[in-house]
Amino acid sequence: MRFLVLVNAEQIITPASPSEPQRGSDMQKIQIWQNQCISIDRQTGKILKIGSWKEVKVSKSEILDAKGTIVLPGFIDSHTHPLYSGSRVDEFLLRAEGKTYMEILKTGGGILKTVQETRKASDEELLNKSSKILFSMLHHGTTTLEAKTGYGLSEKEEIRQLKLLRQLKRRVPLEIFATFLGAHAIPKEYSKKTSAYVRLITEKILPFISEKKLAHFCDVFCEKGVFSVQQSKKILEKAKNLGIGIRLHADEFEPSGGTKLGVALNAYSVDHLMGITEKEISLLAHSKTAAVLLPCTSLFLGKELYAPARSLIDRGAIVALATDFNAGSNLCFSMQMAGSLGVLKLKMKPEEVLTAATLHGAYALGVSQKIGSIHPGKQADLILLEGKDYRETFYYFGTNQIKQVIKKGRNVKTNGS
Ligand code: NIG
Ligand code: FE
Repeated sequence: MRFLVLVNAEQIITPASPSEPQRGSDMQKIQIWQNQCISIDRQTGKILKIGSWKEVKVSKSEILDAKGTIVLPGFIDSHTHPLYSGSRVDEFLLRAEGKTYMEILKTGGGILKTVQETRKASDEELLNKSSKILFSMLHHGTTTLEAKTGYGLSEKEEIRQLKLLRQLKRRVPLEIFATFLGAHAIPKEYSKKTSAYVRLITEKILPFISEKKLAHFCDVFCEKGVFSVQQSKKILEKAKNLGIGIRLHADEFEPSGGTKLGVALNAYSVDHLMGITEKEISLLAHSKTAAVLLPCTSLFLGKELYAPARSLIDRGAIVALATDFNAGSNLCFSMQMAGSLGVLKLKMKPEEVLTAATLHGAYALGVSQKIGSIHPGKQADLILLEGKDYRETFYYFGTNQIKQVIKKGRNVKTNGS
């Protein structure tokens, strides 16, 4: 049927702002509807109206009974690395014995180990593994996803990864924004020749990606011992000149200068920020660049250090939350879990977490006009979570509260699947 009307929800919750990002205490402004319905036009995939049954009812509509659930905008996971092969469970155990992530990377483990295994995997193996992960994300409430390459690290393998991401879009009813992360680590073949690898990216790979329109964004791991500020700048400036959006892994473990660079280049986002300095918090707070925080990674790496969310929010930065699901530094793909850690570890309020996981995730991807909140005219990406009080969304943790997922007005998960 062309129309869908959602009725009987305990609460419908959305960032109050239809599309503009919210700073400071405005990040807590949410709209709560009780005893209201939502009508959706499936032909356009958009929300028509929110109101009483009388106000929204349309003839020839399917009715969705949302009793016992809270309705939120679909989660937007604006930072993930879901295309890889193999397992790094041995490093998980080494970390429990005290080895650090950077120590493991420097001895050829970490990202480089996954690169080796991913290069060996066939297209079909990678597609199967990743589509399974993406379906799990969807069933945990993620309706839009940013997905990075970065486990190829050669011209051929990075392009293969981008093409596989394009195929994944056809296999999973999630919206995917592809990010080229050729500068994720320095590949073995280029060890001690980082400048030559940077040239390969800027002179060959990026122009090809731009010509074939293979990626929305270009990302760089700007960190001591990986890509320097100067090298990151070369790559990101080239991407920007080619019309590709830019974002960075910045100040993840130590102050790297990444945030300053991201703000100067007007990046869509700077991500991680566990090591961000006071000065850079201030720069970010006065910029339009989003701060994407990834608390699952701090937890999974056994760190006591979390990004200074309170200070970032209170000083006016546009804060988003994402999972950073990847092959080794975080194996959690649940935005509900990222939200719980937002409250528990980042000391965010549930209303701030809601905005960070929806509207600000959309903003970080440049699509907050279209998705990220529940307002007439916006895409009908909705999730139904078990409960009566929205504050319970992130209160349960390590469990899946999702009952149903609606993408562009279509049911893509039913209870029990
Ligand atoms: O965001 N920090 C760099 N990249 C990923 C980790 C990727 C990996 O360890 O495989 C991250 O945490
Ligand atoms: Fe990452």
